[in-house]
Amino acid sequence: MNEFHHFLRTRRSVRRFKPDPVPASIVDRILATTIFAPSAHNLQPWRFALIQSGSAKEKLGNALTSKMRADSEAKGENQAEIENRVNNSLRRIAEAPVIILLCRDVSAIRTEEPEETTMSIQSVATAGLQLLLAAHAEGLGGNWICWPLYAQEAVQDVLKLSTEWQAQAMIFLGFEDEKPKEALRQSVKGLITYR
Ligand SMILES: Cc1cc2nc3c(=O)[nH]c(=O)nc-3n(C[C@H](O)[C@H](O)[C@H](O)COP(=O)(O)O)c2cc1C
Repeated sequence: MNEFHHFLRTRRSVRRFKPDPVPASIVDRILATTIFAPSAHNLQPWRFALIQSGSAKEKLGNALTSKMRADSEAKGENQAEIENRVNNSLRRIAEAPVIILLCRDVSAIRTEEPEETTMSIQSVATAGLQLLLAAHAEGLGGNWICWPLYAQEAVQDVLKLSTEWQAQAMIFLGFEDEKPKEALRQSVKGLITYR
C-alpha cells in the first residue's frame, strides 16, 4: 500500500481531545485545503462558522440540546437517559478545542430542482471529508457530528448566522486524547456488483 492509501485508511473519528488549543494557523491551513474539495458546477456552496468563544459554544450547546431534549421527550424516551445524553453532548461541546459548523449556502445553487439541492448537499459533504483529512494531515483528530441538522433554525438564530447558511454538521477538532478503536469495515467485495 502506498503512503497516501495508508494515510486515508488511518483517519479515525476522535471523540476525546486534549485541552491544548489548536494554533489558528493550523485551522486556517485546514480550511484553505478544505475548499479544494470538488463541488457541483464548481459552485462551492460550503460555508464555515468557527465557534471559538466560550459564549458561542454555550449558545450552540444550549440550542442543540434543547432541540435534542424536546425531540426525545416527544418520542417518549426515558427521562434519565435523555438527561444523560444532553449532559454528555454539552460536555463534548465544551471540551472540543475547535468547533467548525459546516454550512451550506442555500443561495449558491443553480436552480431549485431537487437534484440540484442534492448535489449542493453532496458538495458540502465532500468539503466535510476534505476538512477531516486535512486535519488528519496536521496530526489532529476530528469528529463529524450530525446534531445541527436537527436544529438548523435554532442554530442560525443563536449564532446570528445568515438565513442562507444552513447547518449541515459540525466538526470537532483537536489533539487526540484517545486511540480510537478500529472502526470495522465490511469486506469491499460484498459491496460491489459486477456487470
Ligand atoms: C454524516 C455523518 C454523521 C455522523 N454523525 C456523528 C455524530 O453525530 N456523532 C458521532 O460521534 N459521530 C458521528 N459520525 C462519525 C461516525 O460515527 C464514524 O465516521 C463511523 O463510526 C466510522 O468511524 P471512523 O470515522 O473512525 O472511520 C458521523 C459521520 C458521518 C459521515
